[in-house]
Amino acid sequence: MRRNSFWSLICLLLCFSPLAAQTQAGKAVDAEGHQWWQHAVFYEIYPRSFADSNNDGVGDLKGITSKLDYLKDLGIDAIWISPCFPSPQVDFGYDVSDYEDIDPMYGTLADFDVLASEASKRGIHIILDFVVNHSSDQHKWFLDSKSSRTSEHRDWYIWRDGKGPGQPPNNWISIFGGSSWKLDPATNQYYYHMFYAGQPDLNWRNPAVRDAMFEVTRWWYKRGVAGFRLDAVDTLFEDPGLRDNPTVPGKNAFGDENQESKYNQKLPEVHDVLRGLRKVADENNAVLIGETWTADIAELNRYYGEGNNELQLPMDFLFTKVDKLSPAEFREQIAAVNSASGWPTFVISNHDIVRSYDRYGDGQHNDQIAKLMAGLYLTLRGTPIMYYGEEIGMKTTLPTRKQDVKDPIGLTGWPSEKGRDGERTPMQWDESQNAGFSKAAPWLPVPPTYKTHNVAEEEKDPNSVLAFYKTVLKLRHTNQALLDGNYVPVNDNDPNVLSYLRVYHDQVVLVALNMSGSGQKADFQLSKHGFTSVKSLLATGKSAIKGDVVNLEPYGVFIAQLSK
Ligand code: GLC
Repeated sequence: MRRNSFWSLICLLLCFSPLAAQTQAGKAVDAEGHQWWQHAVFYEIYPRSFADSNNDGVGDLKGITSKLDYLKDLGIDAIWISPCFPSPQVDFGYDVSDYEDIDPMYGTLADFDVLASEASKRGIHIILDFVVNHSSDQHKWFLDSKSSRTSEHRDWYIWRDGKGPGQPPNNWISIFGGSSWKLDPATNQYYYHMFYAGQPDLNWRNPAVRDAMFEVTRWWYKRGVAGFRLDAVDTLFEDPGLRDNPTVPGKNAFGDENQESKYNQKLPEVHDVLRGLRKVADENNAVLIGETWTADIAELNRYYGEGNNELQLPMDFLFTKVDKLSPAEFREQIAAVNSASGWPTFVISNHDIVRSYDRYGDGQHNDQIAKLMAGLYLTLRGTPIMYYGEEIGMKTTLPTRKQDVKDPIGLTGWPSEKGRDGERTPMQWDESQNAGFSKAAPWLPVPPTYKTHNVAEEEKDPNSVLAFYKTVLKLRHTNQALLDGNYVPVNDNDPNVLSYLRVYHDQVVLVALNMSGSGQKADFQLSKHGFTSVKSLLATGKSAIKGDVVNLEPYGVFIAQLSK
């Protein structure tokens, strides 16, 4: 028999034990021992596309600085800036040619320092994107590595002889298509690249690589950085014996045979590196976010580490895999991540996946659905990481012709894989030319929806997606149950309405989210469970409570404080 979740609530109310028995380094921000990053709302900025201060069509650091007041007002506590380091831009910055500088296209280190100090004045933390798996093939380490078989940095990358003439060392394929080995004719050896050929994998088995990369983090911490998002951590190590991966039936979007990445992903050695990086982070009261494509919660737990000594915020992408408005699937996934051994992290969009606006939108009620999704992931127990433009309902706009594609994946995989340009279009600030992003033609076209979906317009409209985001974020920052409370599912057989409580001692918040396109009534039997008062905190449209029953409009959101 399904356990009545109100019993779990009552138990929680009576025998509440602090959530954060986890030991964490650093100053606690509440009685539960939570750290700053557990109360913070993070916001990912794709720097090419956020704000262009020098009107060259590409965003930059001064552009970001100019928008800090907007971010503060929105309710953002930390910005994660996708790579802004010097780079040939083969993978738009995920190919770093110097880890300790800023690409001139984005500005200078002095601009970074201004950004850091202006952000700090506003209480906004800066998180940088640390591309740990690989550098650019133009990095001085790789240039030296490639120069001869005996060069100082030869063993900083992964070089091997081919299996035979014209044959790579093994069958491993690149995530970006084709073999993951490239022959260097000068030294007649292959180097390994899990991603693009311009992104050779660093050899993390070499202690010198480890030391140099750890030093990079110290260098940025000294400059005021509050943590890192660690790129592609799953792929850090490879089997030293280079065993062939088992093949799986079918082909991928690039026409390669499918493989199980048994020997080149998620090797246990990854965790030693993460523990090491965490130690340095702890010395700096910093946070490590991980790009962790875990298959299940057991894998996610391994990224938290024993006693939470690895990543504080491994991203739970399983949540993004729930790609339809299914209360049952969301319930299952939220419960799973709440049972994990660390603090949950929720993401619904980023620079690699189709925007949530389209993933969940039905084409007719996208704005309501965007609010519904905000009502969900911004009120859950855990840290949300937003993606720029999500708060105004930006949509994914894919290129329609191959010649317009910028993303290397789209170029290799066209037409079955159109790449990630669609989710990286310029931020829509206003309805002027190029959506106020730049006076020059932007590097990616601005979607036509900028006329209706832009910051300036939405700031004037109390019913806009932006207005809704601001309200939820404000609530989240000021309501203790939303910050610290346990997650307790209620009415968990309802096929249309996803509902839960956030419970912190005697403070209880009810969240009811109608995931269907028709009006719904949800009976919470509040009086039977001793709740005598209900104070509505946020409701969309005509959604409201009458007695014990919440009436929800299609895709409606209702959030209320309950008291006994
Ligand atoms: C990560 C990044 C992605 C990049 C890849 C290679 O998955 O999020 O954008 O292409 O790593 O660095």
